Amino acid sequence: MLSQSSRIQTILVIATVWLATFFTFTKAQAVRTQADDPINIVGTWTTGSGQVATGLNFFNPLNQTFNVPKVGGQSYSFTSDGHWEQALFIFTADPANPNCAQAQLIWQHGTFTMNQNGSLSLTPYIGDGRQLIQNGCTQVSSSITSYDQAEYMQSFYIRQEWHFGSGGYYLQMYEFDGTPKPWMWLTYKPPQMLPTQQLKQTVYGHVNHS
Ligand SMILES: *[C@@H]1O[C@H](CO)[C@@H](O)[C@H](O)[C@H]1NC(C)=O
Ligand SMILES: *[C@@H]1O[C@H](CO)[C@@H](O)[C@H](O)[C@H]1NC(C)=O
Repeated sequence: MLSQSSRIQTILVIATVWLATFFTFTKAQAVRTQADDPINIVGTWTTGSGQVATGLNFFNPLNQTFNVPKVGGQSYSFTSDGHWEQALFIFTADPANPNCAQAQLIWQHGTFTMNQNGSLSLTPYIGDGRQLIQNGCTQVSSSITSYDQAEYMQSFYIRQEWHFGSGGYYLQMYEFDGTPKPWMWLTYKPPQMLPTQQLKQTVYGHVNHS
């Protein structure tokens, strides 16, 4: 016959095993979905005060020029019909000359899918994306080159937080390897974007043949 304390012990062991099984199960099942967020992903999201934002202010596809913002930052936009756009102005150390930061401007757009497992696949229109790399020391601007880079976000979520003295929504995305992207604040809803269809044939083709 079991004593009172060993009976309690048995119950505790069973409870622990059951809880562990339960949490393993829920963890495996708990794929985050957009339904868990206070609002959906549609809109323009920007870091900081939003000086880098997608749309015509950042990149002009007609004459293919970047309008270099005053400060670095990142911006992503998403539409409800599966289009995305990105504007990045990032600084990286020049490996050959560590004291000279390199400025990199990237613009691209395309289509995106929100996958069953909570990840995001961002597919660019090949031929539309552009980048500009500037070296901070030589002040020599490289010319604008093509940039086509698919992006895969392992996961993302949206939360509400105080931002510049008022309530705002931020988007947290995690890159393919789990690296968190900086928080991006909802700045425009509906999003501020360039035309969401492929521009290479329409705009560039038109410009080249005019
Ligand atoms: C490109 O077009 C924009 C908008 O019309 C204009 O503000 C800008 O000066 C142009 N840049 C060049 C290099 O022509
Ligand atoms: C999540 O889904 C995407 C698209 O189907 C797939 O490419 C990716 O490998 C999946 N990730 C994991 C961890 O299963």
